[in-house]
Amino acid sequence: MIRYRSPGYAALNVTDLARARTWYERIMGAQVNGMTADGGLKLRAGGHDAYSLVLYEAAQAGMKRAGWVLEDESQFDVLTTQLDRHGVAWRALDASECHDLDLARCVRIIEPVTGLTLDFYAHMDEATTPFVATVADLRGLCHIGIGAARYRDAIRFYEEVLNFKTSDEIDGRINLMRCFPNPLHHSFALAAMPRNTLHHLNFMVADDRDMVAARARFQAHDVPIVWDGHHPPSDNTFLFFLDPDGLSLEYGHGMERFPEVGAREKRVFPARPESFDSTGAKRDERTAAVGEIETASSLATA
Ligand SMILES: [Fe+2]
Repeated sequence: MIRYRSPGYAALNVTDLARARTWYERIMGAQVNGMTADGGLKLRAGGHDAYSLVLYEAAQAGMKRAGWVLEDESQFDVLTTQLDRHGVAWRALDASECHDLDLARCVRIIEPVTGLTLDFYAHMDEATTPFVATVADLRGLCHIGIGAARYRDAIRFYEEVLNFKTSDEIDGRINLMRCFPNPLHHSFALAAMPRNTLHHLNFMVADDRDMVAARARFQAHDVPIVWDGHHPPSDNTFLFFLDPDGLSLEYGHGMERFPEVGAREKRVFPARPESFDSTGAKRDERTAAVGEIETASSLATA
């Protein structure tokens, strides 16, 4: 079965790239590291990789693509065999496309349940300089959350085809999965939503000092804090906030870790507010409210 290292990158659509660039640098703490040939702005958010976020200017804000890091080169054969077995079309990006994305090799699919484009790769170039924290001590992209209209079908695809493991579910509402054998409780969150959409992107921060500073910074810059609390299933502290287009981002730190062998069984939490947040904080209705998934018309153009 397919083995992964971690989530790799998320590509978002924003309606004003210049505005987003300033905001993601000064408010969110990411750092620009070049552009793609088709105008995507690459941003680092901690770690060593060339980027973990790409912003594209588009008419509608939302989710464009997600990248997953395979454990090593040997996983390409495992992946493509599994995709073929399940009738999922895939395309190996050509050398210039890989170079443009700082990847040694990449297989792309259009995930058939939500229409989200996914990239799989084993090696991304490292940035040429160390990441130096500015307003937040970012530690990388921790998890990607999307909403799916066909929630159960989406869970089945990620489990059965992509070999993600469910750590916990809040019954019928959100399924929290890890890209096996990544030890963190969830590297992917699938929410039951009326439409296919970005739910949120989570960036890990070093500790609670970053959360305290972020609350003050967001208030000073009129950035909506839409949810601030603690998730019982994964035992992590979280802070949800909105980018200038209303896309939901999350800072988090702390999270249950799973061993590769002998992990506990999945739990199902009842669908009530205490399962999402133990603090009783109010969740603003703008949380996860914006962010259509851009569906490529074909793999040739994806
Ligand atoms: Fe999250």
